[in-house]
Amino acid sequence: MSELKNDLLLRALRKEAVERPPVWMMRQAGRYLPDYLKLKAKYDFFTRVQTPELATEITLQPIDQVGVDAAIIFSDILVIPQAMGLEVLMEEGKGPSLPKVITNAADIKALNTADAAAHLKYVLDALSLTKRELNGRVPLIGFAGAPWTILCYMVEGKGSKTWDKAKQFAYTQPELAHALLQKITTITIDYLKAQVQAGADTVQVFDSWAGSLSPADFKTFAQPYLLQISDAVSPYAPVILFPKGTWHALGDLSKSSASGIGIDWTITPQMARELTNNSITLQGNFDPAKLLAPIPQIKTWVKEMIDGFGTQNYIANLGHGITPNVPVDHAKAFVEAVKEYKTN
Ligand code: CP3
Repeated sequence: MSELKNDLLLRALRKEAVERPPVWMMRQAGRYLPDYLKLKAKYDFFTRVQTPELATEITLQPIDQVGVDAAIIFSDILVIPQAMGLEVLMEEGKGPSLPKVITNAADIKALNTADAAAHLKYVLDALSLTKRELNGRVPLIGFAGAPWTILCYMVEGKGSKTWDKAKQFAYTQPELAHALLQKITTITIDYLKAQVQAGADTVQVFDSWAGSLSPADFKTFAQPYLLQISDAVSPYAPVILFPKGTWHALGDLSKSSASGIGIDWTITPQMARELTNNSITLQGNFDPAKLLAPIPQIKTWVKEMIDGFGTQNYIANLGHGITPNVPVDHAKAFVEAVKEYKTN
């Protein structure tokens, strides 16, 4: 394996000194780049995900075209429900849907947790191929969904603003919810370890819907499983946890085995530093909707963001995924603003 020419991300995760903060954008692969949209017109979603050559091509696009300091493998968090035996459909304009949802103990018992690497070989092949094609230019990020967020889709069967059904399931049948969360955790740990073996330099766990839970419910249904994953995978590669909307948990998470915590824009950098006692690398937290503002304005906001976090123990990123309507020039301006950052 070749040495990394740009290892800013890994140094920031190890809390080593950096010349400037590394920058990447959640959901940078796919969605808004014209070259991605061309592939999207030709191949359906899971063909793009399951064909290592296509996944690699899409993963590399933002490295070549936007200049980010890390690649994130093109895949989806819903490959885990698929590997566990559930059908997942991706319909244009509608988002993901699962025709058969989890409702009872028998449904949970039927779920597979074995052989993650065999079921998800195509992701591992895409990681190895991408690693080779990157040729050490930047680190490669693997990822998975967090157990709570995956439960949300498995129980609800589709996206939701409120996740009422998932929460009803957790609050009325907590034992079943925990059994399901544990099964997802078990296969996710194997899957993330296999991603590291295949070439991922670090992994991020997306808990996109963690903010649907109260602080107490997050501690019951989300945090223990995030920590289990972090403890199991951290010996192999640095782990970034991204439990969106849970600034209340920053104190606890900063004491975990994770190397980084992603935060959204509902907390100031200064507050996040205070809550984490300045003891862990933070990632975030630009509101992706702000990428629609004029470029000079984006650059000013990025400078303010970095002033707030400081340049060390920090990974510049968005507070959630980039949206499809962001002009490429604006995404580039975000990245350039980080690279051009100077104090005062
Ligand atoms: O970061 C990256 O660019 C890597 C690729 C990636 C995708 N999905 C590709 C994708 C990653 C990291 C994800 C994670 C993901 N998937 C999350 C967590 C991150 C977040 O944004 O909260 C979630 C909740 C999903 C589930 C999912 N997949 C949804 C809700 C949708 C539909 C709407 C959308 O665009 O997000 C998808 C489909 C999907 N996954 C697309 C892409 C590029 C869009 C479909 C397409 O382009 O055909």
